[in-house]
Amino acid sequence: MATQKLTPKEQVQEAILYPIDWLEERSGLVGGIKYFLFRRVPGDINWFQTLGSATLTAFIVQALTGSILAMYYKPDPQNAYSSIQHITNDVFAGWLVRGMHRWGASVFIILMFMHMGRVFLFGAYKYPRELNWIIGVLLLTMGLAEGFTGYLLPWDQTAYWATVVGINLNGTAPFLGPFISQFLQGGTYIDDGTIARFYAIHMLMIPGAIIALIVLHLYLVIRLGVTSPPWSKEAAGTGSMLKPSRNGRRGLTRPGPRRKG
Ligand code: HEM
Repeated sequence: MATQKLTPKEQVQEAILYPIDWLEERSGLVGGIKYFLFRRVPGDINWFQTLGSATLTAFIVQALTGSILAMYYKPDPQNAYSSIQHITNDVFAGWLVRGMHRWGASVFIILMFMHMGRVFLFGAYKYPRELNWIIGVLLLTMGLAEGFTGYLLPWDQTAYWATVVGINLNGTAPFLGPFISQFLQGGTYIDDGTIARFYAIHMLMIPGAIIALIVLHLYLVIRLGVTSPPWSKEAAGTGSMLKPSRNGRRGLTRPGPRRKG
């Protein structure tokens, strides 16, 4: 059978498409990514709706720079401060990675608040997105806890005394206070037990929880669709992707559970 000769352009296309098709046939991953990226969104969304993605980008930067810092940081009272000095002064581009992580932490928190403000002002927390708001609140709490546990790690005077205040404040909470402060301190004094504990919480427990929550958060964003701005016609009920459901509330376009009879 005679094979058709491919033009150079077609050869390049083949070379690009072959590995993609190979992966798709064996995993279905490409279809999943397409489903995630190419979705229908209301025609009148605006720049404020990019704040969630900006927050996600800030988190990814924190995870990457944090992983690099973890290669050089030593989590014990004798070496923590000097390892940070080593990163800043000796390691190639260490000052940059550390600076990005330190300032990026503030950027992450500020963006999270701005995104939350956008969701609130657009009324995007209402039915059917209440659960995603609750997940958001958990993300905010985790983000703040990440900032608190990371602050101790440089082990300088500011870090130490800020942590003393933070632990004592937690100790004043009703009922659970003493247990929380005991758990955070990891011993009688703020010393090697505390720093090891804060490090484990900062770089394993909380990031793990944040990643799991972000996956859930984005799953719900995809499932429920994006809200139109409150001033748009779509939000007012015309041309919306969200149809009124049988109980009169605006819900998903999917049919609800069947009624008997
Ligand atoms: C790590 C932190 C967070 C990340 C990475 C994140 C990411 C996102 C993304 C990418 C979207 C879709 C695009 C957009 O609407 O901007 C979104 C939507 C949403 N987020 Fe977040 N978010 C975070 C924190 C929060 C917080 C703190 C809240 C509220 C307490 C929240 C509540 C919501 C809600 C209700 C939606 C749906 C909005 C709509 O349908 O218009 N998120 N989030």
